[in-house]
Amino acid sequence: MLSHALYTTDETAEDAGRTGWSGSEVPGSRFTAALYDPFVWLGERRGMRSRRRRLLAGARGRVLEIGAGTGLNVEHYPDGIETLVLAEPVEPMAAKIEVGDRRGSTPVSVVRARGEELPFADDSFDTVVSTLVLCTVEDVERTLAEIRRVLAPGGKLLFLEHVRSDSERWGRWQDRLARPWAAWAEGCRCDRNTLESIGEAFSVQRLEREKWNGMPAVVRPLIIGEAVA
Ligand SMILES: C[S@@+](CC[C@H](N)C(=O)[O-])C[C@H]1O[C@@H](n2cnc3c(N)ncnc32)[C@H](O)[C@@H]1O
Repeated sequence: MLSHALYTTDETAEDAGRTGWSGSEVPGSRFTAALYDPFVWLGERRGMRSRRRRLLAGARGRVLEIGAGTGLNVEHYPDGIETLVLAEPVEPMAAKIEVGDRRGSTPVSVVRARGEELPFADDSFDTVVSTLVLCTVEDVERTLAEIRRVLAPGGKLLFLEHVRSDSERWGRWQDRLARPWAAWAEGCRCDRNTLESIGEAFSVQRLEREKWNGMPAVVRPLIIGEAVA
């Protein structure tokens, strides 16, 4: 049975041996949290659930997931990981995370934290997971630098992100729709070239491009893969 604890940022900073950390607020509401699962439901059925499972099969050791949202990845983690920390800055989203009654003895904690300010000591994790998060963080470079910092030597980043299309014509449409989409989708940028940012901070070891079927076309192009520092 997984144990589940919700920490405040202060407790987390203390646990992680970092004092003086203070997180800033991220926009997000109870309304968005209530709508998130129904909004992605069709996409989950049309391939996203199996993509999550395949990606997370690569998780090892001490695992940190950033922007964990409502916890859609939780059921897909393999048995045998050492610890699982789910970081999510928006409380109504974090409140929906259910660890459930998976078998195994992995300790699981839910922590309120932004990707840009991870309240953990250097080299704390063997795997960091980011699914559909780097589109929304305010500062991608800073978030990737934080992921690098908390990853132990040899650790890896598992990513699954929607991105700007590699088709120039479609990419230009995403550029045009980026502002209204972001206004509607709590700051999510449909035209981010996230692969380029990951490639600047990490060495990408495995990469697949797929389509997020069952979702609006602006967020359909996906990149899925693994990267090491
Ligand atoms: C599209 S949802 C993805 C949720 C989940 N990772 C999934 O795969 O379903 C984006 C998540 O990123 C979170 N988020 C927003 N700003 C963030 C930040 N600066 N750092 C970390 N997470 C952030 C949001 O609260 C939301 O839960």
